[in-house]
Amino acid sequence: KEDVLILAIESSCDETAAAVVRNGREVKSNIISSQIALHTLYGGVVPEIASRKHIEKINQVIESALLEAEVTLEDIDAVGVTYGPGLVGALLVGVAEAKAIAYGAKKPLIGVHHIEGHIAANFIEHPKLEPPFFCLVVSGGHTHLVRVKDYGQFDIIGRTRDDAAGEAFDKVARAIGLGYPGGPKIDKVAKEGNPKAITFPNAHVADAPYDFSFSGVKSAVLNYINGCQMKEEEYSQADVAASFQKAVTDALVERAMHAVEEYHVKQFAIAGGVASNSALRLAMKEACDKKGVEFYYPSPVYCTDNAAMIGAAAYYEYINGTRHGWDLNAVPNLKL
Ligand code: KG4
Ligand code: ZN
Repeated sequence: KEDVLILAIESSCDETAAAVVRNGREVKSNIISSQIALHTLYGGVVPEIASRKHIEKINQVIESALLEAEVTLEDIDAVGVTYGPGLVGALLVGVAEAKAIAYGAKKPLIGVHHIEGHIAANFIEHPKLEPPFFCLVVSGGHTHLVRVKDYGQFDIIGRTRDDAAGEAFDKVARAIGLGYPGGPKIDKVAKEGNPKAITFPNAHVADAPYDFSFSGVKSAVLNYINGCQMKEEEYSQADVAASFQKAVTDALVERAMHAVEEYHVKQFAIAGGVASNSALRLAMKEACDKKGVEFYYPSPVYCTDNAAMIGAAAYYEYINGTRHGWDLNAVPNLKL
């Protein structure tokens, strides 16, 4: 039998997800049960609620993934699961479930790093894309500039020193009254605004040309809004959104292009929730085109958390011989 079928499970934050992926690139099913509506009530993810909801949903999500792929556990070659980084209680639900299924069905168990999953999301729709390439991983919890040397082999070239890019989007959205989750809402509102209306800072980190800092941009936005409120002036939500989005996008593209020059990059990918941001996609595409670099990005459904990307990463771990024991545990701060 040549084909490799992976059943993948993802529960690191607020989506309960399962997928069946064939040979790392072909998605047979991709089921996502989002808890966003539930957490919106509280303005952000409540970890305890997330864990409980994962427990309620996970069996049903896995069953749907198998059903939609028209396979049974018998047909599966391995079970892949996100074991970190993420919320410990949320991760534990997926890990315990994956261990139970793999043990019961006598299949190998493969723990997957969540960021490796985000990067692998690019393999699903781009059959041509193979390492080596560079990937900018921008999500609610992470902002990493990664050199992908081979399947499962990474160097982190740059990272955020404070807030993650998505976190900054979420905090600014809350401050200007857009609510949670902020990224998609800022993206939408910014289309009506002028990105040059207000200049927010693009903070550089001394002696670290690839590192990011977004807490300064966030504070600048908060100060701007407070200033307007003190003067009893109205501010334009759309202009603030567009100008903030431009500041973040400029910072990301600038570091990315610096790496392209220094490392002679030929292929560049983006990944993670913020990779679905329309301004970032456009700016990266233009910058890459200018330098003759191939640019890749996943469809929005594969940018935000999903299990298909975990299945893609698990396949390459499977091929490389990675197997985890029944003592696999959730690791909330797992290193790449
Ligand atoms: O990858 P993801 O689903 O979860 C993490 O692993 O963190 O990313 C979620 C993050 C949130 O901060 C959300 O606001 C942001 O991605 N996001 C966006 C967009 N869509 C989602 N940020 C900017 N523009 C978007 N269109
Ligand atoms: Zn994620």
